[in-house]
Amino acid sequence: STRKECSLSGCRPTGPKLTEQTQLLKKLRQEQNSGFCLFRVLARSFGPFFLKGILFLIFHDIFMFSIPQVLSLLLGFMRDQDSDLWKGFMFALLLFLLSSLQSLFNHQYMYSCFTVGMRVKTAVMGLVYRKSLVISSAARQSCTVGEIVNLVSADTQKLMDMVVYFNAVWVAPIEIALCLFFLWQRLGPSALAGIATVILIFPLNGFIAKMRSKLQEVQMRYTDSRIKLMNEILSGIKILKFYAWEQAFLERVLGYREKELNALKRSQVLYSISIASFNSSSFLIAFAMFGVYVLIDDKNILDAQKVFVSMALINILKTPLSQLPFAMSTTMQAIVSLRRLGKFLCQDELKPDDVDREPYSPDGDGVVIDSGTFGWSKEGPPCLMRINVRVKKGSLVAVVGHVGSGKSSLLSAMLGETEKRSGHVSVKGSVAYVPQQAWIQNATLKDNIVFGQERKESWYHRVVEACALLPDLEILPAGDSTEIGEKGLNLSGGQKQRVSLARAVYRKADVYLLDDPLSAVDAHVGQHIFERVFGPKGLLKDQSRVLVTHGLSFLPQADLILVMVEGEITEMGSYLELMARDGAFAEFIRLFAGNERKERSHRGTRKSVSRLSMTDFSIDLSQEQLISGDRMSSASIQTMEAISDTEDQEQEDLGKLTEADKANTGRVKLEMYVEYFRTIGLALIIPIVFLYAFQQAASLAYNYWLSVWADDPIINGTQIDTDLKLGVFGALGFAQGVSIFGTTVAISLGGIIASRHLHLDLLNNVLRSPMAFFEVTPSGNLLNRFSKEVGSV
Ligand SMILES: Nc1ncnc2c1ncn2[C@@H]1O[C@H](COP(=O)(O)OP(=O)(O)OP(=O)(O)O)[C@@H](O)[C@H]1O
Ligand SMILES: [Mg+2]
Repeated sequence: STRKECSLSGCRPTGPKLTEQTQLLKKLRQEQNSGFCLFRVLARSFGPFFLKGILFLIFHDIFMFSIPQVLSLLLGFMRDQDSDLWKGFMFALLLFLLSSLQSLFNHQYMYSCFTVGMRVKTAVMGLVYRKSLVISSAARQSCTVGEIVNLVSADTQKLMDMVVYFNAVWVAPIEIALCLFFLWQRLGPSALAGIATVILIFPLNGFIAKMRSKLQEVQMRYTDSRIKLMNEILSGIKILKFYAWEQAFLERVLGYREKELNALKRSQVLYSISIASFNSSSFLIAFAMFGVYVLIDDKNILDAQKVFVSMALINILKTPLSQLPFAMSTTMQAIVSLRRLGKFLCQDELKPDDVDREPYSPDGDGVVIDSGTFGWSKEGPPCLMRINVRVKKGSLVAVVGHVGSGKSSLLSAMLGETEKRSGHVSVKGSVAYVPQQAWIQNATLKDNIVFGQERKESWYHRVVEACALLPDLEILPAGDSTEIGEKGLNLSGGQKQRVSLARAVYRKADVYLLDDPLSAVDAHVGQHIFERVFGPKGLLKDQSRVLVTHGLSFLPQADLILVMVEGEITEMGSYLELMARDGAFAEFIRLFAGNERKERSHRGTRKSVSRLSMTDFSIDLSQEQLISGDRMSSASIQTMEAISDTEDQEQEDLGKLTEADKANTGRVKLEMYVEYFRTIGLALIIPIVFLYAFQQAASLAYNYWLSVWADDPIINGTQIDTDLKLGVFGALGFAQGVSIFGTTVAISLGGIIASRHLHLDLLNNVLRSPMAFFEVTPSGNLLNRFSKEVGSV
C-alpha cells in the first residue's frame, strides 16, 4: 500500500549520496529535449575519468615497448667483452625500473577503468530504477518486468565491460603493429611469416568461438528444459509420488541431462583447441619467424640478442591478440545495450504535476477531481470521463459499479498513475493505497505490516485486531514472526488482503484509497473489518476514505456513493438519496441483494466444506508421515533424536517456514574431494597428471633448446645443423601444444563425468526422499542445487 508512495517520493533524490546521479539526471532532462543520447551524456559525465585511464594506458605501453629495447642493449653489452661494467648495471637497473613502472601503470589503468566502469554501471542502474518507478502506464505496457530486470542486470554489466575493455579496440591494433615493426627491425622480412601465422590463428579462434556459442545455445536450451521439468517435478512432487511416477520422470530428466552434457563435451573439446592454440601461438609465431629467418639465408644467424628480444616482443604480442576479438565483441554488445537502455530511458514518464499534492490541513476536502478526463495511454479513448468528485475530510466514499467500469482506474487517477487529459486533481496529505491485488513481501508477517515504519506495539495490536488477523496468527506456526514465503505463498488470498490492509492502516495516512479490500474475505470477517476499520466507529473514522467495494451491505453507512458505469460517474449521493431516486443504482441493489442472499448461503456451505477437507487433509498428512516414519532408516531416526536434542532451537526456528539452506558454504570436506576423484576414476586422473607433467617438461625443454641454439658458436658466419635444430625446436613446441590440448580435454571430460554422476545421485536421492523432506526444503533451494551447483561442478 505504501509502495506507491515510496515510489513517488523515491524520485526525489535524498541525501548527498545521490548528487552525482542528480546531476546526471538534470543533464538527461536537458538532453531529452535536444535529441537524447545516453552515450553523449555518459561521455560528458565520465569522459575526464576515462581519459585519465587512457593516459595511464599510454604510459604503460611506452614502458612496455622500451623493455625489449633495453633488453637488447643489455644482451649486446654481455656479448661485448670490453665495455664498462657500470653500463651493465645501468641496463639491469633500467630494466627493473621499466618493468616496475609498466606494472604500476598497468594496474593504475585497470583500477581507473574499473572504477569508471562501476560508476557508469551504478549511475545507469539508478536511472533505470528511477525510470521503472515513474514510467507512464502506456509505456509500461510496452516493456515487461523481465525486460527491465534484464536492463538492470545484463545491459548495465555490458556497459561496464565496454568501459573496461573498450580501449583494447584501438590500442590492440597499434600494439600489434608496433610489435611487428620491431620484429621487422630484428629479423627483416621473416617477420612477415609471423604476421602470416597471426592471420591464420585469428580466424581459427573466431570460428571456434562461434561454434562454441552455438553449442552453448543448444546446451542452454536443454538446461532450460531440464530445469523446467525439475521445477514441475518439485512442485508436483506429491502427485508424482502418489502415482509412483518417479522412475519415468527420472528417465526424462536424465535424457535432457545426457543431451546437455553431449553439447557441453563438444564445446569443451573446441575450447581445448582454442586454449592450446592460444598457448602455443607464441611458439608458432616464433617457429615460423625463426624458421624462415634461418632457412632463407645461410648468413642469417640466430644469436641471443635476436632470440630473446624477439621472444619478448612475441610475448607482448600475445596480449593484444587475445584481447582484440573479445574487446570488439563486448563493444558491439554494449552498443546494442546502450541503444536499449537509451530507448527505455526515453519512455514517457508519469507527470508529477498531474496531481496537486497539498500538505495536510484539518479542513477542506481530502481528494478533489474537477471535470477530469483520464486515459491509460496518450491515444485511444479515455477510460474515465467527466469525473467530478469531492471527498470531504473524514468521510467515507464508496465506489460501486460493474466489473471493468473503471473503479480501479478512478483510484489510479487519484494516485496520478493514469494519463490526465484534462481537469484538475488535488490530494491533501499523505496517501495510502490498498491495491486490488495484495502485494506481499518475502518477510515475516510483522515486517509486512510494519513495513519499515516505527514499531508501536499497542497500535500494532489494535491494527491486527481490527483487521481480523488474530485468528490467523493463531494458526500460523510462529504467530506474527512467521516468515511469509515467496509471493505470499503460505497465505490465503484473504489473509494476503488483510495483511495488505493492515499495512495501510498501520501507516496512519491522511487519505486512504482502498481497492476492494474485502473481496476475498468471508462475509462475517468483512463485516468485522468494516466495522473496526472503515466504518463510522473504525480506526480510520477521521481519515478520508475512498472504498471500492462489491459488498452492498456496507453501502448504507457510506457518506457518499459513486456509481460508475463505463468510466463515468452516473449517480452520486447517499444511500437513501440514491434509493429514493430509484435509478440504476436502486435497480442494481435490488438485483444484487437477491443474488447476494443466495450467494451467502451458498458460500457458507462451501466454506464449511473446505474446512472439512482441510482437516481431512491434515489427517492424511500425519498418516503419511507415520507411514514414512515406519520406513525411516535408523539414520533418519538418529537425526530425529538429534533434532529433539536441540528442541529449544527448534522452537525458535519454528516460524521459519523454510529451513535455512544448510549447504556447507565454507570448506568442502576432504571426503567430498575423495568422492569426487573416485567418480572421475583413475583411468583419467593418471593421464591428466602425466600429460600435465609432460607439458611442463616440453615447455622447459623448448626454452632450453632455444638458448642452446642462441649460444651456438658462429663458424664462418653460419651456424651448423640449423635444420636439425629447427626440427627439434618445432617438435618440442608441437609436443607442448598437443599435451596442453590433451590436458584440457582430459580435465573437462573428468569434470563432465563427475558432474553426470553427481547429478544422477542427487536426482535419485531427491526423488526417493520422504514427503517430509519436501515440506521443510524450499523448492527454490533444490532447484538451485540442480541448476547452479551441478553447473559449477
Ligand atoms: N493498467 C491498465 N492499463 C490499461 N488499461 C487498463 C489498466 N487497468 C485497467 N484498464 C482498463 O480500464 C478499464 C477499467 O478497468 P478497471 O480496472 O478500472 O475496472 P474495475 O471497475 O476496477 O473492475 P473490477 O471490478 O474488476 O476491479 C478496463 O477496460 C481495463 O481494460
Ligand atoms: Mg478494479
